[in-house]
Amino acid sequence: MSATPPVPRPMTVPDFREAKVRGDKLAVVTAYDYTSARLAEEAGVDCLLVGDSLGMVIQGHPTALPVTLGQIAYHTKCVVRGAQRALVVADMPFLSYQVSPAQAVRNAGRLVKKAGAHAVKLEGGQRMAEAVRAVVNAGIPVMGHIGLTPQSVHLLGGFKVQRDTEQLLADARAVEQAGAFSLVVESVPAEVGARITQAVAIPTIGIGAGPSCDGQVLVFHDLLGLFTDFKPKFVKRYADLGSQVRSALLEYCREVREGKFPGPEQSFR
Ligand code: KIV
Repeated sequence: MSATPPVPRPMTVPDFREAKVRGDKLAVVTAYDYTSARLAEEAGVDCLLVGDSLGMVIQGHPTALPVTLGQIAYHTKCVVRGAQRALVVADMPFLSYQVSPAQAVRNAGRLVKKAGAHAVKLEGGQRMAEAVRAVVNAGIPVMGHIGLTPQSVHLLGGFKVQRDTEQLLADARAVEQAGAFSLVVESVPAEVGARITQAVAIPTIGIGAGPSCDGQVLVFHDLLGLFTDFKPKFVKRYADLGSQVRSALLEYCREVREGKFPGPEQSFR
């Protein structure tokens, strides 16, 4: 008998709404490649987000602004190959949807049609509602993103907690009314996260938005302790893989230099 449980049915967009109705919390994590997608799948995550945070944790930029649609498409293809059950959501990068609703549809379509994403995510509340509606009308599910929207980092004056409750509620409602199936809420006080979650019927996915959200999302490299340039308050490190990777590499370097690697087990006869 196999020790591995059978692969459950793939997550769908309606499953997200139903999870909120049932009160089941949704576990979302970012992924940028096949191996991390496989690992997250094996852990049973509900959704893999190919986030533009790859600009920071993969590419080493100080913000996500330089990330291109082609790069998101490339990483989405890698993640899709490792995904079996999880819903794969591709992040629309800076200036791939803000110009016009038509641009949003064209580029969201590319992420679904060519890269294999099941849904896209785009940032912005009331001011992006038209773009969300256009993409949904084209048959593409949209995950909204309000609160701290990192693509507007310069407009917001930095990566700051967002506290304008009335505006945040208006943004959440606008994105829901535009047809989004779920909503990332980033860096707002926990009490505001709870109010937004009560105000909308679609599931809220919090990142620095408190425990009342319908789900949570973290960046893969943050939660595993692989990215250590800085640590936002909302990050919990579930492992310190950075240190483990460093020690393994140190040992590898030492063994190579001492002629201990490869040993007989790694050598052909
Ligand atoms: O880019 C990203 O990874 C994100 C999540 C952290 C929400 O937008």
